[in-house]
Amino acid sequence: MYFELSEEHLMIRQAARDFAQTELKPGVIERDEHQKFPAEQVRKMGELGFLGMMVSPQYGGSGMDAISYVLVMEELSKIDASASVIVSVNNSLICYGLEKYANEAQKQKYLVPLARGEKIGAFCLSEPEAGSDATALTTTAIDMGDYYLLNGVKNWITNGGTASTYLVMAQTNPAKRHHGINTLIVEKGMEGFTVGAKENKMGIRGSDTHSLHFSDVKVPKENRIGEDGFGFKFAMNTLEGGRIGIAAQALGIASGAYELALNYAKERKAFGKTLADLQATQFKLADMATEIEASRLLCLKAAWLKDNDKPYAQASSMAKLYASQTAMKTTVEAVQIHGGYGFVKEYHVERLMRDAKITQIYEGTSEIQRIVISREVLK
Ligand code: CAA
Repeated sequence: MYFELSEEHLMIRQAARDFAQTELKPGVIERDEHQKFPAEQVRKMGELGFLGMMVSPQYGGSGMDAISYVLVMEELSKIDASASVIVSVNNSLICYGLEKYANEAQKQKYLVPLARGEKIGAFCLSEPEAGSDATALTTTAIDMGDYYLLNGVKNWITNGGTASTYLVMAQTNPAKRHHGINTLIVEKGMEGFTVGAKENKMGIRGSDTHSLHFSDVKVPKENRIGEDGFGFKFAMNTLEGGRIGIAAQALGIASGAYELALNYAKERKAFGKTLADLQATQFKLADMATEIEASRLLCLKAAWLKDNDKPYAQASSMAKLYASQTAMKTTVEAVQIHGGYGFVKEYHVERLMRDAKITQIYEGTSEIQRIVISREVLK
């Protein structure tokens, strides 16, 4: 066992920490308030290589490992979870899937600009009537010979309005159930594809979440990823890695709130002492620190397994389940430690509390993570 981070890991973590402080922190409250997409910050993260972190340099990526990805996700999420979800989706659900399963022509055309951060992608699985029960999706992709005719609606799509490249899961052969699903690469601007209303959300309000409408969109056959009927496996496999990203996001939200609470507790006086002198506060801080450390170890273990080509479905689900629970609990306690100040926007913790909730919902709810974990342990 070896728990030290390498020099390279420490450097990338520092770079993300500096970026979060200097580029994400100014304006984060305003972006949350006005649901403003962090366009300029995303552009800079692309330049730093944060949008295609694990993609090989051959395809425009930074060639880093999943451990580095966890470190960067934690640091960005301490300050701005709206920005970090863009990083997570682009890295794990878009770039990873394209690098692993797309053909060479698809990689050159779509992966390279996504990995360089010149474009961003959106992963389109969920539908109004199919969220957790993903095999029940009803968007159709009818085989018309040299193209698919795409019809349907997708919901809650991260980067929905700002993406250029959309990976859309659609049913080609309902008789085959999930074996009839294909993943198609859809470009913004294709005729019949429209971006629907932007969601007015409780948290991660700076991220851009939309419904998408497909009405007789002609998607060339060459835009299908993998063999006919591979689309559901593609979605499940990419989500395994995505859950590491969201687990690390939850970890960052928790550790960001913890750091704010710790500093506040050392400064704020009550009953002639600082809050940190009171055992009620000390016990809260002890629980927060312990649960955050456990979350971090789960995230890093899942990333290590991925880096070493070992199975990581169970580990990524455990990391997401536990870290998201920790994010929720820690942020609620951080608001409590701040008292009245915690309830107002200037102190940042109320935003972290609102942002924490989504980590128990997207990329598989906590209930879905328990399904994945229990199936693994009962195998
Ligand atoms: N890798 C590869 N294949 C997998 C897999 C994995 N990790 N997990 C399941 N599969 C395969 C199964 O082997 C099976 O295929 P076969 O029949 O060939 O064996 C197929 O998928 C269906 O699996 P199940 O029979 O287990 O199906 P199920 O309906 O009982 O359960 C589920 C599937 C695990 C619950 C799945 O539906 C699921 O993960 N649901 C949650 C969906 C989700 O996470 N949505 C998030 C939306 S994306 C998002 O949030 C992104 C964002 O914008 C931030």
